[in-house]
Amino acid sequence: MDLIRELESLAPELEKGLAQASSLESLEELRIAWLGRKGRIAAIMSGLPKLDPAERPKVGQAANRVKEECSRLLEEARKRIAGSQEKKRLERFDPSLPGRPVWQGSLHPVTLVTEEICDVFNTLGFDIVQGPEVETDYYNFEALNIPRDHPARDMQDTLYITENIVLRTHTSPVQARTMLSRKPPLAVVAPGKVYRRDSDLTHTPMFHQIEGLMVGQDITMANLRGILTAFIQAIFGKHTKARFRPSFFPFTEPSAEVDISCVICGGAGHIGNEPCRVCKTTGWVEILGSGMVDPAVFKAVGYPEDISGFAFGLGVERVAMLKYGIDDLRLFFENDARFLSQFGQYA
Ligand code: PHE
Repeated sequence: MDLIRELESLAPELEKGLAQASSLESLEELRIAWLGRKGRIAAIMSGLPKLDPAERPKVGQAANRVKEECSRLLEEARKRIAGSQEKKRLERFDPSLPGRPVWQGSLHPVTLVTEEICDVFNTLGFDIVQGPEVETDYYNFEALNIPRDHPARDMQDTLYITENIVLRTHTSPVQARTMLSRKPPLAVVAPGKVYRRDSDLTHTPMFHQIEGLMVGQDITMANLRGILTAFIQAIFGKHTKARFRPSFFPFTEPSAEVDISCVICGGAGHIGNEPCRVCKTTGWVEILGSGMVDPAVFKAVGYPEDISGFAFGLGVERVAMLKYGIDDLRLFFENDARFLSQFGQYA
């Protein structure tokens, strides 16, 4: 019967210990010391085999009661300590501290530059239109005076979906689509993604272009020059010079590539004694292709013969690189937030 008395003294003793405890760690120490495998209850129970077998059940029952009582006391103490810790945490909470700033996304530089360019043309009277990225061979090539056996097809590494369906290699098919759905006079720009089987340091399989088209009764090369010069100075600054160089595109005649005075070295070709890497010391950088719409294109869309117009196509990434002084095309596609967040807040 001594064992029972010994057992019964354990709970009140634990209660005293718990009253002193102020942390969950010290609670755990007490739990191990009382209820653990080498704890006090276990120690008392190790005397059981020495007892008269008739007394063993009573001692066993007393041990179970004491275990339950100790568990209950421990649980009560745990609640008390956890509650007071929470209270302390709330007392420390300072509602007057400023909040953490919420990270705000920003528009991608390609989106920003596309919007900026479209805004400029919008001000000049151009509507904004769009066409499909998955395009038929007809609109991407045929209607643009590029027949199947034309060598110009090799200029553009086309991604084919089927024999007659391609991922558009340029935004020029939107020219044909626009003229089929609108009557002249018209002026539109068409921004969007284009695709080519091309991937290296300066080419990505997908990039962005903006197509422009102005068609009417008396549209001449002078209009092309005037509009494109106004656009260039709006985007790159009043002092930027534009140079029109003869070129070739199957869907324009005559054709011109347009260079601007290098925005990195100011057209000097050198920065101090260093040769300019962007213009390769020429002082000029190419930014777009353009020309007077070829009569064959007007014929394909059923426009009358007395109509004339000009078209142009520019690469958005290229404009963004020159405008922001970015020297690596891949930065646009890696989407590192540290890079993207430098281009103005979400509009
Ligand atoms: N589509 C041509 C290209 O991708 C650019 C261009 C458009 C040239 C319109 C002339 C007129 O290279």
